[in-house]
Amino acid sequence: MYKVVRRDEIVPNVHLIEIEVPGIAEKAKPGQFVIIMPDETGERVPFNISDWNIEKGTITIFFLEVGISTAKMARIKSGGTIYSVAGPLGKPTSINNYGTVVCGGGCYGIGAIYPIARAMKEAGNKVISIIEARSAYLLYMEESLKEVSDQFFVSTADASKGTKGRVQEVFDELINSGEKIDRSYFIGCTFMMMNCSDITKQYNIKTLVALNPIMVDGTGMCGCCRVSVGGKTKFACVDGPEFDGHEVNWKEIFERKSVYLEDEAMAYQTYQQTKCECS
Ligand code: FES
Repeated sequence: MYKVVRRDEIVPNVHLIEIEVPGIAEKAKPGQFVIIMPDETGERVPFNISDWNIEKGTITIFFLEVGISTAKMARIKSGGTIYSVAGPLGKPTSINNYGTVVCGGGCYGIGAIYPIARAMKEAGNKVISIIEARSAYLLYMEESLKEVSDQFFVSTADASKGTKGRVQEVFDELINSGEKIDRSYFIGCTFMMMNCSDITKQYNIKTLVALNPIMVDGTGMCGCCRVSVGGKTKFACVDGPEFDGHEVNWKEIFERKSVYLEDEAMAYQTYQQTKCECS
């Protein structure tokens, strides 16, 4: 059992959870993730590490409530406990001075892109951060990202803040304004990462995306997180989670991710009903 130092819904349906796991906090690097089991009977779900504090021995992650496991996590109160946290897992982001680096995030990816932007800034890059949401009230981490970025942009689907549209629209504007971009990183829903990769491909800009397939063991043994990149089979948990966005077989990812959608929705609905009847 691990202590949950803080759990807050920071904007509607996006939760911050800070967990006391000194061994992971000490080793965590940008781009890595953990696998969490909220309770003894729960599934194993991967989450990007958004921040860590070695002195406090804590890590911070952001998550959306989308199924039973995240619903259970969203009900943990600050001071409560979580059953299992394994990590840090995956290969860390390769941090170097590349020149001008764009870091784009949406949904949980706004939090997940933060340690990459921070490390890129520390490595001497010009960092341009772009975040997206359906509406301004769903944006978070703005001040933290501004602090580690040379330029910071926001896009909202309803135009309530920043550029109307999504990260790729802002990216396009930057290119059209003459900005020379050397490298880009995107974390968010699969559609977002695919669309951003499509744009950067047109300009031949090296692009890394953090894939988020279903995972079980997180050690390369079960094959559950299999993805195809550049025509080769890779396992996101040990070969990734970061891959070249221009080489990812996106169609296959969508197909594999959709296999359990119906079952997950049914199970989530049943869980919600049970919780309502019990409370
Ligand atoms: S989660 Fe099992 S091989 Fe990656």
